[in-house]
Amino acid sequence: MTLYFASTTAPVNIATLKYWGKRDKDLNLPTNSSISVTLAQDDLRTLTSVCTGPELTDDKLVLNGKEESLASERTQNCLKDLRQLRKELENSDAKLPKFSEWKLTIVSENNFPTAAGLASSAAGFAALVVAIAKLYQLPQSLSEISKIARKGSGSACRSLFGGYVAWEMGNETDGSDSKAVEVAPMAHWPDMKAAILVVSASKKDTPSTSGMQLTVKTSDLFKERVRDVVPRRFEEMKKSIREKNWPLFAELTMKDSNSFHATCLDTFPPIFYMNDTSKKIIKLCHQINAFYNETVVAYTFDAGPNAVLYYLKENEHKLFAFIYRTFNKVSGWETKFSSDELAQFIKH
Ligand code: PMV
Repeated sequence: MTLYFASTTAPVNIATLKYWGKRDKDLNLPTNSSISVTLAQDDLRTLTSVCTGPELTDDKLVLNGKEESLASERTQNCLKDLRQLRKELENSDAKLPKFSEWKLTIVSENNFPTAAGLASSAAGFAALVVAIAKLYQLPQSLSEISKIARKGSGSACRSLFGGYVAWEMGNETDGSDSKAVEVAPMAHWPDMKAAILVVSASKKDTPSTSGMQLTVKTSDLFKERVRDVVPRRFEEMKKSIREKNWPLFAELTMKDSNSFHATCLDTFPPIFYMNDTSKKIIKLCHQINAFYNETVVAYTFDAGPNAVLYYLKENEHKLFAFIYRTFNKVSGWETKFSSDELAQFIKH
């Protein structure tokens, strides 16, 4: 049997300027531009391998060792677009094997719990689309390919790049200008680090697609957010990243998380993604910054109660001294830090 292979990894990205609201549900076109920071590849990532060959009889997906359906419209849209681009390539060069007509086997694996309330669909769709684009040897740029990943899951388009990434909302109705672009590579600001506090590992109760549609329909606060607040922050945040202006980046990140959750509360009926522990973490972060009289930490929360904390490497001890005191009875700490490091945190 002749088979052709390709493999890739895609990282989880966490939005620091949130995407919330679609202007076109089928194409996943957003009502505002957004920005994310991609977590390091060896932290949270999806590894996807794909193969194709003339003898394969069905498209097949194996996710974390279990066969899953590929029937969803979003997945089918991605496969259709990728096959179309491959077909164009084959039409221009008759010697190329007819990958566009053959079935695919896709094997995907997350190195983190899929249902832990972390953004697994973004990394998943990004890895799927990039692996197939690699297999098909598509000449398009990552930004072009990001438009296909966007159709799978909006935020997936940002996981095609490492580091600091913007998703430009675009204006066109066909989505041809709604794509991810790099703001800066990870190496530009290597001192910035992220810690994830998993508050709850259960699945979110309002899926993002239905949640955002309800917000678009019912929230007055949302209208102001997309008209003025986010467009302004989009430019400010890109500038703060380029200039490595940590206090500004941190403030915008926290404010935008709060603004997003405020529009969720302003949705009717309201949507609550954060719980009491999430609120305790927000309070703690502000206490830490006030205690040191500097911005040590910035928090952000997606459509769930788990916190992502950003901080500069030089401030790690200042942050974890507090976090450790507050949450030291919670499991996970012992394995993440060495006893020397823990001793340092306690000393502070
Ligand atoms: O791409 P989706 O449909 O999973 O929506 C993501 C929404 C947020 O995570 C809350 C914000 C974002 O920009 O990632």
